[in-house]
Amino acid sequence: MAILITGGAGFIGSHTAVELISAKKNIIIIDNLCNSNIQSVENIRKITGVDFPFYKADCCCDADLEKIFEENEIQTVIHFAGFKAVGESTQKPLKYYKNNLKSTLSLCEVMKKFGCSHLVFSSSATVYGAPKTVPIKEDFPTSTTNPYGTTKLMIENILKDICKADPKFSVACLRYFNPIGAHKTGIIGEMPNGIPNNLMPYITQVAAGKLKILSVFGNDYETHDGTGVRDYIHVVDLAKGHLSALKYIKNHSGFETFNLGTGTGYSVLDILKTFERVNNIKIPYKITKRRPGDIAICYADPTKSKKLLNWKALLSLEDMCCDSWNFAKKAIAGK
Ligand code: NAD
Ligand code: UD1
Repeated sequence: MAILITGGAGFIGSHTAVELISAKKNIIIIDNLCNSNIQSVENIRKITGVDFPFYKADCCCDADLEKIFEENEIQTVIHFAGFKAVGESTQKPLKYYKNNLKSTLSLCEVMKKFGCSHLVFSSSATVYGAPKTVPIKEDFPTSTTNPYGTTKLMIENILKDICKADPKFSVACLRYFNPIGAHKTGIIGEMPNGIPNNLMPYITQVAAGKLKILSVFGNDYETHDGTGVRDYIHVVDLAKGHLSALKYIKNHSGFETFNLGTGTGYSVLDILKTFERVNNIKIPYKITKRRPGDIAICYADPTKSKKLLNWKALLSLEDMCCDSWNFAKKAIAGK
């Protein structure tokens, strides 16, 4: 019996693959490598010393998925595959609707055909829109401000309907907050193509001298220092949350959402100062105007995940900043 990981060559998928293998699980990865590369698959093998089947294939292709299910006995699927760039999704909405929705629909159809009814889905805190209060609980109202977020919410609703129609189906819908950090070995991590949109990859590229200066988007928010506050979570803690979710869906049916966050909010300047301190590097920065669409504060109430999944984030902001740089300095130098 094996766990199929879609998008397993990507940032969160690769870290989850390592944790699953370390927990002695059999895994199979499907990834079309549209936002990753084969080296990432090799790196999972390098860290774990374990080989596993890898299919370079598209989750939108029913025939490819069927082949994987025919060739392997798949018990559970963790579905990471999808596009995730918020800005691009506003410019190319069809690309996002097509890939994120089609891949999920095809996957669920093939799962049904092969009698596989356990799924862990990667959703996002973006489905909470602009929350009225923090910390955010799973039962807060949902809304979205961009096509990427809308695909996540649409998929959540599709999965809810599938669970209603089929009592055997069990879905853990994980709403991630802001994953950063990298594996301790510095062998896998996040390396976006082009100029990064997200804070930590931008900071590491400034640290490496690839970009000159960090723009801090606004210091006039109602937060402790005026800059935006987020719930940054170490990607290894996040990956471990998937193991807990797998245990949960084994013993429960139906659709359940879980926040994967630390429950603590840090500002942009907190991140910057901690990164500088733990890595002993100065990061030049300037305050610029707010980024359209940004909210002031977003952090999770992770109580439900602690209670039902028996999971909580353990790694610190220092770990996140240290591990992000440990990976990025090698990756940038090697490019
Ligand atoms: P990523 O881009 O690093 O990984 C996604 C992987 O999926 C990539 O390797 C890509 O090549 C693959 N892929 C995309 N479409 C595919 C398809 N049709 N068929 C096969 N493979 C395909 O992204 P990530 O940061 O690892 O995110 C994983 C999931 O978590 C995504 O669904 C993302 O929306 C969600 N998420 C990410 C964040 C974040 O900040 N990274 C936050 C919330 C939710
Ligand atoms: C963004 C997405 C969100 C997605 C998440 C993870 C938007 C509006 N939101 O979240 O949907 O789930 O990424 O992929 O794009 N910042 C700077 N300078 C920078 C970059 C960021 O000051 O160069 C600030 C932002 O204003 C924010 C914080 O850093 O306050 C975090 O930004 P980012 O890493 O982009 O994550 P989110 O905006 O929380």
